[in-house]
Amino acid sequence: MKTPIHIAVTGAAGQISYSLLFRLSAGLLLGPDQPIVLHLLEITPAMGVLEGVVMELNDCASPLLQRVIMTDDPRIAFKNVDYAFLIGARPRGPGMERKDLLQVNAEIFAVQGRALNEVASRSVKVLVTGNPANTNTLIAIKNAPDLKPENFSSMSRLDHNRALSYLAEKCGVHTPDIINMSIWGNHSATQYPDLNHAKVKGQSALSLLDADWVIDDFIPKIQQRGAEVINARGQSSAASAANAAIDQMKSWTLGTEAGDWVSMGILSAGDYGIDTDLVYSFPVSVTTDRVDVVQGLAISEFSLERMRLTEQELKEERDAVRHLL
Ligand code: NAD
Ligand code: LMR
Repeated sequence: MKTPIHIAVTGAAGQISYSLLFRLSAGLLLGPDQPIVLHLLEITPAMGVLEGVVMELNDCASPLLQRVIMTDDPRIAFKNVDYAFLIGARPRGPGMERKDLLQVNAEIFAVQGRALNEVASRSVKVLVTGNPANTNTLIAIKNAPDLKPENFSSMSRLDHNRALSYLAEKCGVHTPDIINMSIWGNHSATQYPDLNHAKVKGQSALSLLDADWVIDDFIPKIQQRGAEVINARGQSSAASAANAAIDQMKSWTLGTEAGDWVSMGILSAGDYGIDTDLVYSFPVSVTTDRVDVVQGLAISEFSLERMRLTEQELKEERDAVRHLL
């Protein structure tokens, strides 16, 4: 029997976690022979609901789930964890932008960054989903000076998956037929879903598409997909977010396919001229435990303008939370 891996999930009684936890206990992150211990963090008033979720987890009789720790204390939740899914944060409702959540959610990531810094495994992988995810990640990084920025990423994978799915539908193919999709910038309405490098069954995606469709349909569709889901469901995306969180952690752990890449929000080191000290989504390739921004991509004037626009929004978000950095 392998040694159990410890996984923390915050906001464990919320709707994303309600999809995520059962996938984790079914082995969808680490495989069917890897036992896990779940560390579930909630705020005190939600502990009763969390107990109900844990009853259901237990009732799955998962052979992989060795133990569940329930707590409202981040230092217990993050003690020696190998993975941390930071999901707990308020979601937006109809008519809001994700950055409207900054003031209510930012403090959570300062507190949790400090707790991770104190007690998590030094090789912990921390994936921030709670919105606005990029800037919350920056806050966590700045509050965890004894961990490396490489321990943290923000979730771009939902946008990446949305872009794959929408392009596949347009081209009448399946998502595995598409490689080299890129999401640049913020997980927000300014993000830049970029088809310039994407290939569909080995052919340049742009050679198969009208430029008007790309500019007037594809880009705004992906930028606004979160709002579209909220308007239809009355609540923000949950199952697709949990799925994306597992996808991103899996790519981060197992690496990307040769010739392909994924999108991840990481602390900018200045690649493509993006300001350092922003958590910005880049196309990245991952080899065991190393995340590298894909180098040498040709960037058109149009792309550069979009990349700068989303960078500017991230700078404004950073300015709004200076006191926590
Ligand atoms: P939810 O309201 O259903 O659940 C959030 C949970 O977090 C609640 O149970 C709440 O009690 C808990 N919580 C609040 N503060 C906490 C704290 N300090 N510590 C621990 N738990 C805390 O919301 P949800 O639908 O699960 O969404 C969670 C977050 O994820 C939201 O901010 C949402 O906007 C975001 N989100 C991001 C993406 C993405 O792609 N990055 C996708 C979907 C949702
Ligand atoms: C999403 O993209 O679905 C999430 O960020 C939730 C939201 O507020 O749109």
